[in-house]
Amino acid sequence: MGNKSVMVGCFILFLILMNLALLYKLYADPRIQIVIFQSKEQTFQEQNSAMKYQQRGFGQIPILQGLHYLSKINNNKDLEKLEEKQPLQAKSQCAVVDDAYKFDCYPETFIATKEKCEARGCCWQVGLSDQTLDKKNLSGGVMGVPFCYYPKDFPGYKTGLKAITPTGFTVGLTRNTTGFYPDDIMTLVMDVRYETDYRLRIRIYDPKNARYEVPLNTPKVSKAAPTQKYSVIVSKTGESFNFAVVRKILSPGRPVVLFNTSGAAPLIFADQFIQLSTFLPSKYLYGLGEHRGSFLHSLDWRRLVTWNRDQAPHDPDTGTNLYGHHPFYLMMEDGGRSHGFFLLNSNAKETALQPAPAMTWRTIGGILDMYMFMGPSPSEVIQQYTEVIGRSFMPPYWSLGFHVCKYGYKSVNETMAVVNRMKEAKIPQDTQWNDIDYMEEYKDFTTGTDKFGDQAAMVDTLHSMGMHYIMIVDPGISNKKSSSPYPPYDLGTKMDIWIKDSQGKPLVGKVWPGDVVFPDFTNPKSYDYWTQMTKDFHDKVQFDGMWIDMNELSNFYDGSLTGCPENKYDNPPYVPAVLGGKLKAKTICPSSLQNFSMAYNVHDLYGFTETMATYQALKTVRTKRPFVISRSTFAGQGHYGGHWSGDNFARYEDMYLSIPEMLNMNMFGISMIGADICGFHDDTTEQLCQRWQQLGAFYPFSRNHNDLGKKPQDPASFSQAMQDSTRLALNVRYALLPYLYTLFHKSNAMGETVVRPLFFEFPQDVNTYSIDDQFMWGSALMITPVLTQDTTVLNTYFPACVWYDLNLGKEIVGNSSRVKMDAPMDQINVYVRGGSILPLTMASLTTTESRKNNFKLLVALNGTGQANGGLFWDDGETIGTHESGAFNMIMFTAGRNFVSSEAMKAGYTAERMLLDSLFVYGVEAAPKSVTVNSKAAQYQYSPQYKSLNVKIPLVDLLKPLSVKWM
Ligand code: NOJ
Repeated sequence: MGNKSVMVGCFILFLILMNLALLYKLYADPRIQIVIFQSKEQTFQEQNSAMKYQQRGFGQIPILQGLHYLSKINNNKDLEKLEEKQPLQAKSQCAVVDDAYKFDCYPETFIATKEKCEARGCCWQVGLSDQTLDKKNLSGGVMGVPFCYYPKDFPGYKTGLKAITPTGFTVGLTRNTTGFYPDDIMTLVMDVRYETDYRLRIRIYDPKNARYEVPLNTPKVSKAAPTQKYSVIVSKTGESFNFAVVRKILSPGRPVVLFNTSGAAPLIFADQFIQLSTFLPSKYLYGLGEHRGSFLHSLDWRRLVTWNRDQAPHDPDTGTNLYGHHPFYLMMEDGGRSHGFFLLNSNAKETALQPAPAMTWRTIGGILDMYMFMGPSPSEVIQQYTEVIGRSFMPPYWSLGFHVCKYGYKSVNETMAVVNRMKEAKIPQDTQWNDIDYMEEYKDFTTGTDKFGDQAAMVDTLHSMGMHYIMIVDPGISNKKSSSPYPPYDLGTKMDIWIKDSQGKPLVGKVWPGDVVFPDFTNPKSYDYWTQMTKDFHDKVQFDGMWIDMNELSNFYDGSLTGCPENKYDNPPYVPAVLGGKLKAKTICPSSLQNFSMAYNVHDLYGFTETMATYQALKTVRTKRPFVISRSTFAGQGHYGGHWSGDNFARYEDMYLSIPEMLNMNMFGISMIGADICGFHDDTTEQLCQRWQQLGAFYPFSRNHNDLGKKPQDPASFSQAMQDSTRLALNVRYALLPYLYTLFHKSNAMGETVVRPLFFEFPQDVNTYSIDDQFMWGSALMITPVLTQDTTVLNTYFPACVWYDLNLGKEIVGNSSRVKMDAPMDQINVYVRGGSILPLTMASLTTTESRKNNFKLLVALNGTGQANGGLFWDDGETIGTHESGAFNMIMFTAGRNFVSSEAMKAGYTAERMLLDSLFVYGVEAAPKSVTVNSKAAQYQYSPQYKSLNVKIPLVDLLKPLSVKWM
C-alpha cells in the first residue's frame, strides 16, 4: 500500500471544489423570472362557434403543417391566431400518412388483421420492408411501424364549453360515438391549472363518477400563477378536442410547442383504457422508468411498459416492466432549454415512442393527471418535479461509506470473516449487511438461530468497530402454523392489516418462507404494526437501517395460492405488454383489496408505501435519520429512501448500464442509488470487479453484493493488486465525502441531483446529450470509468471549460471534443471542473474515523482565475437539521491570488471544523509569499502542474479565513 497511499495523500492534497452558482443557488429562488405575456386562455370567450371555424376552412390545414406552424409562432398576436386556427383536423386519408406519423390503432400484443383493424375504423397497410414490419406480436421493445393506424378524422371527443376558474380554466369534453374499448366515459372535464409560473397541471377526469387517483400528497394551489412561462391552447368549442402547451419565450426567441395532441392518436378515455398521444418538440427524451437501456431514449418505435415486477434486468432496450414505476420524462429542446412531464397515474401502463417525434401514453385506470415543468435548465426541471413529488431524503453520513453484502453468508462467523479481511486489507468499509440467511426459515423478524449464530452480538461488535449494520426484510409474513408463536403473523392478523382477496379473506402468496400474507401499507394501521415489528426486532438486534426487498409485490404464485377470479380487473380488456402476459404474473391478483383501493390501482405503490412505513418505523424506533433501501419504487420514493438496481449480472454491459440507471433515478428524485458492484448473478472476474469497484466508488449508494452460490466478491477476497486499486478508489471516495454530503444536502433542500449527466451542466452542448458512459457528481466532478474489458485508454469527452485531472492535477482545456486519456488498471479517471472549490477530508477505514479528520480544500481555478464552493456540515445523523438550523454552511470563494471562506450559518458547534491544508490548481506563477489570515504560511508550488499547496495552521472554518499569495 506504500506508493498508493502516497498517491491517495496526493489526491487529497490536490483534490477539490464547488461552483459558486451552486452555493448561491442554494439560498436563492431558482426560478427564472422572464415575464412574457399573459396567457390567452384567461380571456376565453365562447363567441367562436364551430360553424365559424368550418367556414374559415381550418379543417384543410394538414396536421403536420399545423405542427410546423405551431413551432413558428413568434409573438403574442401569433398566439392569438394560433388559438383561432385550432383544431388542425384533416380528412380521413389513410394512404397519405407517412410511416413516422402512424399512430398505433391496434396496440394489443396479439396479431392484428385487416378485418380486425378496419372493424375499429382504422387504416390497414402492411409494411413493405423489414424496417416497417409491425413487430409487437414479438416480445421486446422495438415495435416497427404499425400496420393498423388511426385515420386523421377518427371520431373522438369534441371540445365543449370553457369556463374560467380561480386556478386557470376548465373545458368540457363530450363524445357521441363509442370507441372499441368497453365503457367509454362520454363526458369528461379538462381542468387546466396554472399552479406556478413554471408548473402547469392538467387533469382530465370523469366529472360524474370519482375514479381512483394516486394518493400522493402534491402541492395544493388555490390561485392561478400570474406570469406563467407557458400557454395552453385548446381547440374551439364544437371541434374535435385537441390541446397544445406552448413555452412562451421573449423575443428574439420563439415560443416552442412542448405538447401537441393535434394530429396524433385521438384521446380515448374508457373505464379501463385511457390513451393520450402527443407530438414532441425534439428527439432528446430521457426518463420514463424503470427500464434498462441507454440514457437517451430511441424514438425508433419503442414501447416501455410499467407494472412493477420482480424481474432481473437482463437485455437492454426491451422496454419490459422492471421493479419501479416513474411516469416522468425530461426533454431537451433546441437551444439547451428543457422541460419535464409527469403523469400522476399508478395503473399498469405503457408509453409508445415513435420517430415523428411523438409519444402515446396508455394506461388502464385512474385519470390523466399531468404536470409540466418549464425548467428551463434541466436542473430546474428536476427541482420543479421534486417540488411536487418530494425532495430526496437526507441520508445519515455513515451511509455514504462503502457497504458489503452477499446472499449466502452461512453464519455470523462467515459474515465477520469478510469484515475482518476488509479491515486487514485496509479497505474502507462502513456497513456490513445480511441477506435472508440470518432468519429462521426465512421468516421476517426472527434471529439467533443456532445455525446462523448470535446476530445481536455481531452487530454490537460492528458498532464497537465504528461500523453499521443493515439486514434485509421482506414484506411476506409467513402464515405457517407452528407450535411456537410467531408474533409478526399473530399481531398482523389481530390488527387485520393483510391484503385481502376479492372475497375479503387474507390473500395467500408465496415467497422465501413458503406461504405468506402481505401487510397492506395503504392501511394506516399497518404503520403501527410495522413500527411494532421493527421495535421488537431492534430491541434484540441494534440494526441501523433496513433493506426492503421483494416488494413489487413479488409472489411465487401467479395471483395467489388459489389463483385469481375471472373479472374485469384480473382480466382487463387491454393488458399492457407486461412480462408474463397477465397482470397477475409473479404478483398478487389485481382484484386483491387494499385499504385505499384494489391492487389493480395501487399495485405499483406497494414498495413506495412500504418504504414510507419503514421510514416512519425507523424514525420512531432509532430516533435518528432513517436509512431505507427499497427494490420497488414509485414517484416520490426518494423522499423516504434509496434504491438499488436489483439483480444485475456480472457483465461489462451491466456495469455500463448502471450509469443510465443512476442518472435516471436521480432525475426521478432518488438520489441514493447504486447497482450491485461486481454483479449479482454469475461469478464475476477479477478484472471486471476491479473496474466495477472503481466505478462503484462513485455510486451515491456504494454496495458490493452478489447471489447465493456465487464466489465471494468482496474486494478483500481478490489479489493484492485488486485490493490496492479498490482501496485507492474508495480512499478517493472517502476523501470526497464532505463534498458528496453537501450534494446530498442540496438534493434534500433544493431538489438538485447528486449524480447527473453532462448535459445538465452543459445544456448548450448537444454532443453531451447522448453521453452516458461519463457522468458528473454535482457540478464539479466528471467521472469517466473504464467499462470494457482490457481497456487502458479512454476516448474522453471534455466539454468546453478548464478541467484538472484529480490524480495528477494536470490541466486539460476542454474543447467540446474527445481526447485519448490513459486509464491504467489501478486508476479511475476523475476530473475537477475549473471554477469549483471542493471540501475534502483525509480518508479513514470508516466514516466514524474520517469525520474526526481535519478538512482540506481543493480549489480549481477556472479560465478567469475564479472558483466557488461550499460545505454543509452537521452531526450526520440527527433528523431535520436543515429545518432546525443545527448545521453549518461554509462558503468558499477564490480569485487569482486569494481564497477566502466564511460561515453563512453556524448552527452546529459540537464538533470543531478545522482546516489544515489548501490546494489550488491553476496558479499561473510561483508565489513569492503566502499568508493565512495575514500571517506568513508554508507552501509548495509545482511549476509543472501550476498547483499551490498551502499548509494551514488549523483554522476553524466557523471563523473567516483569508489566504493570499503574491
Ligand atoms: C432478491 C434481491 O434482489 C437480491 O438482492 C437478494 O439477494 C435476494 N432477493 C435474496 O434475498
